[in-house]
Amino acid sequence: MSVHKVVKKITTHILQEMKAKGEKISMLTAYDFSMARIVDGAGIDIILVGDSASNVMAGHETTLPITLDQMIYHAGAVIRAVNRALVVVDLPFGSYQGNSKEALNSSIRIMKEAEAHAVKLEGGREVKESVERILSAGIPVMGHLGLTPQSIYKFGTYTVRAKEEEEAKRLIEDAHILQEAGCFAIVLEKIPYKLAARVASELTIPIIGIGAGNGVDGQVLVLHDMLGINNEFSPRFLRRYANLYEVMTSAVQNYVKDVKAKDFPNDSEQY
Ligand code: KIV
Repeated sequence: MSVHKVVKKITTHILQEMKAKGEKISMLTAYDFSMARIVDGAGIDIILVGDSASNVMAGHETTLPITLDQMIYHAGAVIRAVNRALVVVDLPFGSYQGNSKEALNSSIRIMKEAEAHAVKLEGGREVKESVERILSAGIPVMGHLGLTPQSIYKFGTYTVRAKEEEEAKRLIEDAHILQEAGCFAIVLEKIPYKLAARVASELTIPIIGIGAGNGVDGQVLVLHDMLGINNEFSPRFLRRYANLYEVMTSAVQNYVKDVKAKDFPNDSEQY
């Protein structure tokens, strides 16, 4: 029987057990109560309250503008919906890069005010001290390497990272550094599948990929992308499991039609 089926509540230890048994880990984003209820009820292992809320929920072009207060608001709504999944919350841009004390203070706010289960931050060796300090307060930390959207103005584009040998070598070193610092898992975003598989086989902690192929220990997608709510974003790695853009547009069009035609509400829909 898979670990996933028998477990009532996902913990970082359970994720470690899944990796050891070769059972893949499922992870999706969520930013609000209603969506988180559905995602948790459907049996997801990890819910990420991603700073992609900046794009998906607030319509910003990048993840940079979202604030710590806004992340805490989204995380609180998700936490109130969830019974089983492990809820990981992104430390937003500007809430941890200053120094490790700032990183710890931001993480404590997320854990205390939203009652989250873990935090995630972007970067390798440059965040090692922060990872260690956050962990010293008993807060589990997930790393994030490869395409790190908070550094988009440094990269210049959202194309595949670590295709060149030097960057790939640095990424492998960073993954080891994050594991040694105590991260319980690492997200690898948009890197060649062979490199991602190598990192997953060298490290003992779970490696969760997005656009990183199937040789890793689990997969993460942005919920609104995989549900097809957002139909303007079609990278190669994205599999759409529904076309909610069309379903919702047609529902709203039918409602408008019925209201205009005085067909809604009908006799049985009024008091
Ligand atoms: O913010 C986010 O949604 C993320 C995922 C892409 C991993 O960090």
